[in-house]
Amino acid sequence: MATDDGSAILQVEEVAKHFGNVVALEGASMEAKDGEITAIVGDNGAGKSTLIKCVAGVHLPDRGRIVFGGEVVRFSSPEEARRAGIETVYQNLALVDELTIWQNLFLNREIKRGVGPVSFLDRKAMARRSEEMLSRLDIHIPSVHARVRRLSGGQRQAVAISRATGWGSRLIVMDEPTAALGVKESGRVEELILRLREEGHSLLVISHNFDQVLRLSDQIWVMRQGRVVGGRRTSETTGDELVALVTGANRGEPDEEGEA
Ligand SMILES: Nc1ncnc2c1ncn2[C@@H]1O[C@H](COP(=O)(O)OP(=O)(O)O)[C@@H](O)[C@H]1O
Ligand SMILES: [Mg+2]
Repeated sequence: MATDDGSAILQVEEVAKHFGNVVALEGASMEAKDGEITAIVGDNGAGKSTLIKCVAGVHLPDRGRIVFGGEVVRFSSPEEARRAGIETVYQNLALVDELTIWQNLFLNREIKRGVGPVSFLDRKAMARRSEEMLSRLDIHIPSVHARVRRLSGGQRQAVAISRATGWGSRLIVMDEPTAALGVKESGRVEELILRLREEGHSLLVISHNFDQVLRLSDQIWVMRQGRVVGGRRTSETTGDELVALVTGANRGEPDEEGEA
């Protein structure tokens, strides 16, 4: 099902994953092209989150292959995936409420000055760097010294996304980035996603908002019951076609396994 023109940054090939008796992925295949926004849609329980967790090193697939940047990868932790250049923004934003914005941006990747026993965290450098990261993405937040607890949902999402972009990541994975946000804040996050593509990032975004997916993405993969049942260039599909693919209304048609 994947196209073969060499520009894929990510290829997922027949990946399967079960949890006890639950088959979450039953041989799912898709790909993401370098510099594009790739969307995954599908009903609740279709396997979308499990698929991206396999890509992001949270789960090891039971079967199948994941190829990232031309190399077969088998991440046994999110840290390994991150080191390879895959950053993930999760549905339940992994920010720490009681820490400041800059502390969250640098959580687990502190800048240190000096070596060995005399090294210490360079707080000023981290705060300054945080301001740069946010302003580069045109994110307006009063102060990087504010605690995350005080931010709105949209501001939190912006900080989480900024965190994912700040460390030379090649692929940014987002699970329902606007699910918890109002219309206006969703719009700002969408602008942020488009800005990241302009900067040359590749993005893999789960959404069940078809309008959003049609506005934002270059390529759409549809999942149903643990499989990827169709792939479309965004410019060549419609909301009606996506609904049909997601619900299986066109089940049995020869074209169901559509080409990218
Ligand atoms: N950690 C887990 N343990 C047990 N079952 C899980 C786990 N994660 C996902 N599942 C199950 O796998 C299936 C796919 O879930 P998920 O990937 O979260 O779907 P989606 O993100 O498309 O809603 C569901 O039936 C879900 O209940
Ligand atoms: Mg999910």
